Amino acid sequence: TYIVTEACIKCKYMDCVEVCPVDCFYEGENFLVINPNECIDCGVCEPECPAEAILPDTEDGLEEWLEINTKYSEEWPNITVKGETPADADDWKGKEGKKELLST
Ligand code: SF4
Ligand code: F3S
Repeated sequence: TYIVTEACIKCKYMDCVEVCPVDCFYEGENFLVINPNECIDCGVCEPECPAEAILPDTEDGLEEWLEINTKYSEEWPNITVKGETPADADDWKGKEGKKELLST
């Protein structure tokens, strides 16, 4: 499966939701998640993210993010249409240490 990782926090460009063939993105206040049980592993969303936040869960060290995607995709509403990107999204792009800013 693919998952959304820390780089999405406060960037939330939402280009990803427009391309997913199975509509498996879910929306939090400042972050999106993928439902790993619905993702068909097509990979088309990965290059669409300007923040490079979408990664295959086979990459090292992503266990925690797989758990976060699994948990919140059960709690947050589905999103299929791109909304308004935060005005300061570009300021947060590439910043480290955003995990503590995740709004759940
Ligand atoms: Fe959707 Fe494909 Fe991305 Fe999975 S890899 S979230 S199915 S676009
Ligand atoms: Fe987040 Fe990238 Fe989608 S910043 S909302 S994963 S396009």
